[in-house]
Amino acid sequence: MAEDYIVKDIALAGFGRKELDIAETEMPGLMALRSEYGEAKPLTGSRIVGSLHMTIQTAVLIETLVALGADVRWASCNIYSTQDHAAAAIAESGVPVFAIKGQSLEEHWDYLDRSFQFPEGPNLILDDGGDATLYVLLGARAEAGEDVIAVPTSEEEEVIKAQIKKRMAASPGWFTKMRDQIVGVSEETTTGVHRLYELVKQGQLPFPAINVNDSVTKSKFDNKYGCKESLVDGIRRATDTMMAGKVAVVCGYGDVGKGSAASLSGAGARVKVTEADPICALQAAMDGFEVVLLEEALDADIFITTTGNKDIIRIEHMREMKDMAIVGNIGHFDNEIQVASLKNHKWTNIKEQVDMIELPSGNRIILLSQGRLLNLGNATGHPSFVMSASFTNQVLAQIELWTKGDDYKNDVYILPKHLDEKVAALHLDRVGAKLTKLSPEQAAYIGVKPEGPFKPEHYRY
Ligand code: NAI
Repeated sequence: MAEDYIVKDIALAGFGRKELDIAETEMPGLMALRSEYGEAKPLTGSRIVGSLHMTIQTAVLIETLVALGADVRWASCNIYSTQDHAAAAIAESGVPVFAIKGQSLEEHWDYLDRSFQFPEGPNLILDDGGDATLYVLLGARAEAGEDVIAVPTSEEEEVIKAQIKKRMAASPGWFTKMRDQIVGVSEETTTGVHRLYELVKQGQLPFPAINVNDSVTKSKFDNKYGCKESLVDGIRRATDTMMAGKVAVVCGYGDVGKGSAASLSGAGARVKVTEADPICALQAAMDGFEVVLLEEALDADIFITTTGNKDIIRIEHMREMKDMAIVGNIGHFDNEIQVASLKNHKWTNIKEQVDMIELPSGNRIILLSQGRLLNLGNATGHPSFVMSASFTNQVLAQIELWTKGDDYKNDVYILPKHLDEKVAALHLDRVGAKLTKLSPEQAAYIGVKPEGPFKPEHYRY
């Protein structure tokens, strides 16, 4: 039988395994779940299709799901984010994985389709950005004769439609069958969560969803402290530019924006922020950043979008930038920067995921990862430790959906606070943090139990 995987080079598996072994030492949450549930195997019978950046950290997540009894197939959720040695190690372990760094958009959707091809189809989705969920739902709508629209970017729309057509021709009724047998989805990121809430509003979410992003131990750690380490890592690996003394503009001051601004200012850059939300704008100002309009800051050296919104850096902005300005995005999709409008300019490829584009003024800009998330495209994403917190939430969400899915309606849920606190607790030892125990009197005085939860639901951290 032909190999049931597509990776760049299976010979990279040895290297991948060595890095996996190191990552395990930095992912105490996942390793604790393996000890806690490895024998009971609560995910037995589950068939999980995963659509999430195929990195070393994700490999530890996949092996944790397998250790807990799951059958897993995997694709990456971004064309540039795969670490080929991680994919090779996973393929060699016998888990079907379809991911190559630098795969085309057509391959991206074909690989996603392949990750669904369990003999009996999947019954759970683990999503990052919502592509796997979108694929099933759009396909089912197409099978019902409805128009297939509302996809991430216009460039991608035609590719998705073509992939859906192909699957419909090969397996009539397949999408509807998949939609009906999936018992739930756990979603990793802000943008994917936003899509899920939209589906609920439209009455179109066909299964329960767990919003992993809004566990405190995900968005307040991965989005923030993760980007704090990985943003500058990506810019440096791409450009080797000196950060200290440069002026950087960060568009958006949500969790990712806060981490990104901290990353740049920690490296010595002078950071300006743009924001649409007055609360986040005030936070940025009080964190010491100048809050400006992008139009007023076009003489900066580095521009980073972090909004999860579209058309943030537009062609008229790029036309006014100085020679060799660096432009990149760390939000989920590539439509934050109007890359399509640069297509008829002169492009010079410098190296993988780094392009120099000449503007009509004669000035050039350096575009990172063609506007896709640069911390994964130009570097290796967040460090293992912070991804351990995110992925521990993911595994708990998958267990919840698989073992108690019937208790949930077709709505979006957040994991209960005691599990959020558990995820944090599992990561304290590794950083040498000691937790103070509340006496029964102290707990009663502030209205909590000595064993937690330690905060009311409305607390914001
Ligand atoms: P968030 O909602 O906390 O922050 C986004 C901020 O952008 C908000 O404060 C919003 O007011 C602001 N914004 C929206 N439109 C704007 C505009 N036109 N100009 C200026 N500001 C604007 O979202 P979060 O969690 O920070 O995520 C942002 C994006 O990053 C999402 O797409 C998310 O999926 C992605 N993400 C990427 C990661 C990575 O490793 N690259 C990690 C985590 C999230």
